[in-house]
Amino acid sequence: MRAEESARRIAALRRRLADLELDGLLVTAPENIRYLSGFSGSLAYLVISLQAAEILGDSRYWLQMEAEAPGFALVRSGPSHGLWPLVAERVKRLGLQRAGFESQHLTVEQHQRLTAALPVEIRLTATAGLVEGLRMLKSTDEVELLRRVAQIAGRAFDRVQPAIRPGLRERDVAFLLEQTFRELGADGPAFDTIVAAGERGALPHGRASDRVLERGDMIVVDFGASAGGYHSDCTRTIVVGKPTPEQRQVIDAVRRAQTESMALMKPGVAADVIDRRARESLDGDAYAFQHGLGHGIGLLVHERPFLSPSDQTPLQAGMVITNEPGIYRPGWGGVRLEEMVLVTENEPEVLTPASREVSIE
Ligand code: GLY
Ligand code: MN
Ligand code: MN
Repeated sequence: MRAEESARRIAALRRRLADLELDGLLVTAPENIRYLSGFSGSLAYLVISLQAAEILGDSRYWLQMEAEAPGFALVRSGPSHGLWPLVAERVKRLGLQRAGFESQHLTVEQHQRLTAALPVEIRLTATAGLVEGLRMLKSTDEVELLRRVAQIAGRAFDRVQPAIRPGLRERDVAFLLEQTFRELGADGPAFDTIVAAGERGALPHGRASDRVLERGDMIVVDFGASAGGYHSDCTRTIVVGKPTPEQRQVIDAVRRAQTESMALMKPGVAADVIDRRARESLDGDAYAFQHGLGHGIGLLVHERPFLSPSDQTPLQAGMVITNEPGIYRPGWGGVRLEEMVLVTENEPEVLTPASREVSIE
């Protein structure tokens, strides 16, 4: 991450802390640590006050922290078990009286240990979603990373799709996709690739299995690549051969729900309103999707905002959110179509280029 980008994110966090009358934040969620500092290893803690920004790490990561998180003062612990006492010591040394912690990430046990190590006058305050709120709006650099992983996955799908044929197992298709992500420059898949054929398509998150593909199968393929910490997420539903009229009708209905709801993905429109539009479009279909219509995506595959009945977040230009309606009929199969969408001041921009051809011969 560029140093200015890290500085900008820390400044934005400090403004939020000041609004909440907090004088610091202990950051423990790995993706929030990466977002603020650039550090990509598996274990670190950040202690951020209104003046200081420190990264606490054990000896496995000292060199990596110096390289990846130059905007942070490195506070060293030899072994990893020395990190918790060090957190308490830094909170004391920095004179934090009202420090926040990330209540959605710190375990109860960690909180107890920390509280026990701190003087009674130091109050730890639960916060939720402070950094996650900042992460909803992607910077230009982040949009570029998301565009890149979506393109890698799209090119991989277009390369693998002609090889999909009767006789292959679902897991063979997943393997080919994941191998191709890496060949095209990804660090790996963003999540376990879903390949769900025939009746298995009714499982919204059916893992790729040993099921052998047959002529006439409709297959839900949900795939994404990851690189530089960022993830992509895209679903295509394809038919081995020509779709039957029923398959075609269900695919068209899902596509319509996606098109109608995507048209609302504009600044100022609330997330739940967009979700509702897709459900209304499929109204009357008893098997219409019950999961959310979509989710923000970035350092995590699923992050805020959520296109769901319980999220009223107004969309803003710079958000990247999936749109993924589906119909799942037990015993018959399923259809899901998923795009990653960049919200702009003008029309929503689809970032997922994979072929939308339904029929493969
Ligand atoms: N691939 C997981 C999802 O679509 O949310
Ligand atoms: Mn997906
Ligand atoms: Mn998704």
